[in-house]
This record gives sequence, structure tokens and C-alpha cells, in this order.
Amino acid sequence: MKNYFNPEIAAMAGYVPGEQPKIANLIKLNTNENPYPPSPKVVEAMAKFDYARLRRYPDPMFDALRDAVAKKNGVKRENVVCGNGSDDILTMTFRAFTSPENPLACLWPTYSLYNILAQMQGAQVKHVLLDKETFAFPENALEQAKGANLFIITRPNAPTGNTVEKSVVREICAKFDGVVMFDEAYADFADDNCMDLAKEFDNVLVSRTFSKSYSLAGIRMGYAVGHADLIDGLLKLKDSYNVDMIDQVVSLAAYEDEAYLLENCTKVKQFRAEMTDALRKIGFSVIDSQANFLFAAPPDHDGEGFFKFLRENAVLVRYFKGDVTGKYVRITLGTPEENARVLELAQQRYGK
Ligand SMILES: Cc1ncc(COP(=O)(O)O)c(C=O)c1O
Repeated sequence: MKNYFNPEIAAMAGYVPGEQPKIANLIKLNTNENPYPPSPKVVEAMAKFDYARLRRYPDPMFDALRDAVAKKNGVKRENVVCGNGSDDILTMTFRAFTSPENPLACLWPTYSLYNILAQMQGAQVKHVLLDKETFAFPENALEQAKGANLFIITRPNAPTGNTVEKSVVREICAKFDGVVMFDEAYADFADDNCMDLAKEFDNVLVSRTFSKSYSLAGIRMGYAVGHADLIDGLLKLKDSYNVDMIDQVVSLAAYEDEAYLLENCTKVKQFRAEMTDALRKIGFSVIDSQANFLFAAPPDHDGEGFFKFLRENAVLVRYFKGDVTGKYVRITLGTPEENARVLELAQQRYGK
């Protein structure tokens, strides 16, 4: 067939999401979903939902949810935009701030979708390289990001799980000549976050998702907070009805159940500490995580071998090929039983 595509689209490979296999009894720890179901308030909201409403379009401006997010974070409705998952927020952000003239800066390694979104825009990518062994944030990050119009700082980072000092990123917000976006998909599992920087600086956006801490990956909800002018620009280019009606109702119910969120995150953080210790005892190198997953290298540094071994034993984790990442697997923290199975298999393969 003749190639009808724009050259940048024809040249790109497309993002490959984590597998969603349909294998019975599989322990699925590959896409950082929550091990627990969503809040019981979600079930209540869905039971009460009047399905006759579905013949109407949803609120295109998702005001109820924007107001709830605004209230919790001490900002106004005009400082909040919602999306069909935080991937949708990222799409809007890339459309707004990257182009052939406006490069992107992001960490490396990090969430690989950023590279694809930049390619779609025909934008160059400046990788701010994390330390190859520790994945620490480089001291010359600003220099490496120089010339970019958008700098995405994934905090905590994925797939490494670690974070960078708040004082360091605060300085970046003050000095970077462009928009700084904190992708805080995992911030509810971390000790701190950068929401205050979105209020302090007019060039800062913070994005969050309901997919991880709220156990709602299936309905797709994300939002960003920032200066009203930045948010106004994103609202202009979003799809008209990017967040469906059920999504709006369900997310609001989950968002208001703060006690449930806290209880779940506390449990996941506890598993994180226990799994980190236990894997280290078997000889794994585990990066200190602030997220709901661990980036762990087995004693023989054969990440791919361990990934395959787990898979043969019906445990699915994530493996990222490459010089820097190939030694590791990324393991989502599961239920205590699922975590125990990972440890049992690790012990079987590497225990003395
Ligand atoms: C760093 C990061 N940002 C964003 C996302 C996308 O999340 P969502 O489900 O809200 O689209 C993910 C998903 O894994 C992620 O790891």
C-alpha cells in the first residue's frame, strides 16, 4: 500500500503496554496495579447510578471532580484538568508543549511512553541520564535538559522506583526555561510529592492517576494541577468528551474515600519494606523504592532469565531489555500471598 502516513508516524514503532494475559491462576505483577479492589464507595456509586443518564453526553468539563481535586489540594477549579487516565493528560501536555522546534527532556531510564509521544510530535528528546548503577538523579540535570520546552520528571520514577530530593527539583522549577511536569503516578506511595510546587511556580504541572493507588486502572482517570493559564491551554486541546460519565461518577466516589486510600497505601508500603529486605537477603540488588513496585536485579544479574523463570511458574513481572535495565525485573507489589510466591521462587532459583 502507498504510505499515507505523516513521516513521523510512519517511522515510529508504537508503545507496547504491559501484557494483560488471559491465563487462569496467573499471578499478575507486571503493570503496577493495586492488589486490592477499589473503595466500597465505588460499588455504592455504581449501584445507585441511573443508567438512563447514559443517553446524554457527560459533563465535558468534569466540574464535580475538578472541584473535589481543587478542594483537596487547596487550588481552584481553573487549576485542574482531568483526563482519560494520566496517559491522556500526557498526550495533551505533549501536544501543547512539544514540536520539532520544542524538544522534550525526560529522565532515562523512565516511562517509555514519553519517547513515543515526542515522536508523534516530531520533537527531539533530550535524555537526562540517571546513574547507571544507582539510578540517582544527575547533578547536571539542568544542563542536560537545556533547550527543551518541556521537562518531565517522573517522581517516583518508573521503572526504577526511586526518587529525587525535593530541594533539587525545586531549584529546577525555578531555573528551567520551559514547563516542568511532575508525573506523580506513584506519589501516593511516596514520602512526599510536588503539589506545592505546582502552586508556587507558574511553569509547573503535577499529574496524578487513579490507576495505582485508587485501584481504578480499568476506568481510566487522571488529572493535572497547575497555573490557570497552563490548564486553560490543555483544556483547549483535549477531546471534547474525554472523560465518560461513569468514569466521572466512579472516580469521585473513590476520591472522597480518603481513609480507604490511606489504608491501602499503608499496606502496600509495608509489603514494599518486607519484600525489599527479603529479596536482599537472597542476594538481589533492590533499588530503594517509593512506589508500589520494586526494581530488583537477581544475584546473577540475569533479569531476563529470572523473568522467564517466573513466567514459567505462572508469575508475570516486567522486564525491560537494555544495557542499563536488562539486569533487573520490575515486580509490582501484590497481596501477601502473591509476594510470598515471588519470594519462594526467588529462593528456589538463587537460595543457598
Ligand atoms: C510513570 C507513569 N505515568 C503514567 C502512567 C499512566 O497511567 P494511567 O493508567 O493513568 O494512564 C503510568 C502507567 O503505568 C506510569 O508508570
